[in-house]
Amino acid sequence: METTLTDGGEIWASEQLVLCRDEESGLRAVIAIDDTTLGPGLGGIRRRSYPDAAAAIFECRRLAAAMTLKNALAEVPFGGAKSVIVDDGPVADRAALMRRFGAFVARTGGAYLPGVDMGTSVADLATIRAAGADVSCADDDPSPWTALGVAAAIVAAVEQVDRREGVDGVTVLVQGAGHVGDSLARHLAARGARVLVADVDAARAEALAAEIGGAVVAADQLLTTPCDVLAPCAVARVVNDHTIPRFACRIVAGAANDTLAARADAERLAARGIVYVPDYVANAGGVVHIDAIRRTGGTEHLGERVLAIGERVGELLREAAAAGLTPTTVAERRARRLLAAARAPHAERAAA
Ligand code: NAI
Repeated sequence: METTLTDGGEIWASEQLVLCRDEESGLRAVIAIDDTTLGPGLGGIRRRSYPDAAAAIFECRRLAAAMTLKNALAEVPFGGAKSVIVDDGPVADRAALMRRFGAFVARTGGAYLPGVDMGTSVADLATIRAAGADVSCADDDPSPWTALGVAAAIVAAVEQVDRREGVDGVTVLVQGAGHVGDSLARHLAARGARVLVADVDAARAEALAAEIGGAVVAADQLLTTPCDVLAPCAVARVVNDHTIPRFACRIVAGAANDTLAARADAERLAARGIVYVPDYVANAGGVVHIDAIRRTGGTEHLGERVLAIGERVGELLREAAAAGLTPTTVAERRARRLLAAARAPHAERAAA
């Protein structure tokens, strides 16, 4: 299906949209700064291939908008932004490409603060920083903190849905045994969950499953494998109108950004009785880590702050159940309230 620039939103949705091109390094990239009400736009750099330029712009803008919600709800002082570097195949000089991209990021004057995402590494971020950009994740990988937060979100969701404690004996299917999925699977196995692992890299899935005493599910059997919790930790838009009717889980909670293909999928899941924890709530451990490092340079009290994601998920699911709304609607409303209050602090104080 052809993507258009207005799919999923109107053309002026982002505060700032930057297209970057450099012939010498082969760079083609997009920077979307969605909203800077709460601070500079924080969001990772994704590198992957896209069918066309419009698809890259579309994904970048959606991911940036989700970062606005994520950062607001995680109560970190950042707005939302994201960038994508189009992967057109192997590059002769990756460092040169990243340096060039760093120069484009620097031109935003600090309005965009990049970090790692799928397809980029801590080493890439260090190169981008050397080119003059203010970056996060150049020294530390936030993935373990993201995984800790997702584990807390899953535990909270199971406890809320099943009115029980912990995840002992609960079956969790982790899609993607990468940076986050690997660490998440270990947390869950350590808490007694039965962990199933699916990855397009079958060897990676097998190695992880063997280490944690879990089992492997073929990547193409993911949707129909019965489990209590499906934890998407790989690609975007796993939940869509084709997949929802086939799901054999009761809860969807994972790290993958942009898990829902369309906003209406939140309602479609609810209609099937599947509880969905919004990705941008569950996967905020990484931005909490970045905030801690930028504030104090250290990770003191970081564990407690990340585990608070579990409390937030519990509250969100209780509020949604009480109001007869989806957790997505409740989370969006809360984020909108926080943004509106920040935009009109005087009016807010006067009303209080
Ligand atoms: P990664 O690139 O380290 O791992 C992704 C894994 O998924 C790889 O093992 C890959 O082989 C596998 N995979 C790819 N397509 C698949 C498919 N169709 N079916 C099954 N497996 C597949 O990525 P990482 O860092 O673990 O991130 C995973 C997701 O979490 C991404 O959507 C990312 O945007 C999101 N996320 C990551 C954060 C972080 O701190 N790393 C923070 C917030 C969100």
